[in-house]
Amino acid sequence: MLQTTAYHAPLLEYSKELLHKPATSTIALLPPVVDMSSSRDDVCHAILDAGKEYGFIQVVNHGVPEQAIRDMELVSQEFFQLSAADKEHLYSEDTNKPTRFFSGTTFETGSDKYSMNTLRLAYSFPNGDSSNDWPSSPPRLREVAMKYMELTRGLGMELLQLLCEGLGLRSDYFEGDISRGDAALSLFQYPPSSDPSMTLGLPPHCDRNLITILLPSAVKGLQILYNGDWIDAQSVPNAFIVNFGLQLEVVTNGILKSIEHRVVTNSTVPRLSIGTFIHPTENCLIGPADEFLTEDNPPLYRAMTFGDFKHIYNVIKLGSSLNLTTNLRDIQENI
Ligand code: OGA
Ligand code: NI
Repeated sequence: MLQTTAYHAPLLEYSKELLHKPATSTIALLPPVVDMSSSRDDVCHAILDAGKEYGFIQVVNHGVPEQAIRDMELVSQEFFQLSAADKEHLYSEDTNKPTRFFSGTTFETGSDKYSMNTLRLAYSFPNGDSSNDWPSSPPRLREVAMKYMELTRGLGMELLQLLCEGLGLRSDYFEGDISRGDAALSLFQYPPSSDPSMTLGLPPHCDRNLITILLPSAVKGLQILYNGDWIDAQSVPNAFIVNFGLQLEVVTNGILKSIEHRVVTNSTVPRLSIGTFIHPTENCLIGPADEFLTEDNPPLYRAMTFGDFKHIYNVIKLGSSLNLTTNLRDIQENI
């Protein structure tokens, strides 16, 4: 029987050592760059190969016009520069409120505080017209954010289709409820901190959605877990960083992994990033696709609705956070 009470993982196993472990430097560029202007076959292979290894890729020649990206960066900066009084009416700690401004993370992390401000804009279906709830200031925000949302969500859907081709899933697998929950466009600002070694912008986590398209800033901060070390994500100009959410891990029965990442702060400059999150609907039942199940490959995850999944998976289990895939299975076993 599916129990829908929130699963509160014990926070006692909290490992300060891992949480604040500095990043290991690396010569190779991570995430790997995928040039979307290559042949479709090459792009399919590149996404799958790099994605299987790292759970993260960065895409270039992705078709989103540079102007749309610059405009989005500009309105984001303008928004965060508004006075506190001008942003106050948008402030809410109610995680059920689709469009809101808040500080800290949405995950429950005990008493730990994270240094981050977010403007979250919800984009609903069928017609995507939820922008009336979006802030009317700065004046161009609604128009620019809507255009940017449509373009980046389109890119996300294109990447999901390429994944289908590469994985041998029918090409419309990710159309419909599995991708038509409220999408979110989140504008993140990570203020500088007096002690970056102790102040994280975002705790280690895996994204709970299907796929995330992130516009990183020139200011470093995103780190990806690879072989037990935190590696700085470095992006090339105009690239989007794309990562697989936990729902993709479940659908592919673990062929694609949702990899843990965090955001560190620095002591001098604020960092801005912009995320487009594609979500299933709350009632969409998600489990491993039949295509990946055989006698030798039994389902590793249970099917559950996205709503139940989010409810259960709302606590960052910091202590054992080196392997969230195992956590994901443990959590599913506990219900
Ligand atoms: C997230 C996230 C990274 C960033 O919001 O899930 O990982 O660079 N953001 O802001
Ligand atoms: Ni994330």
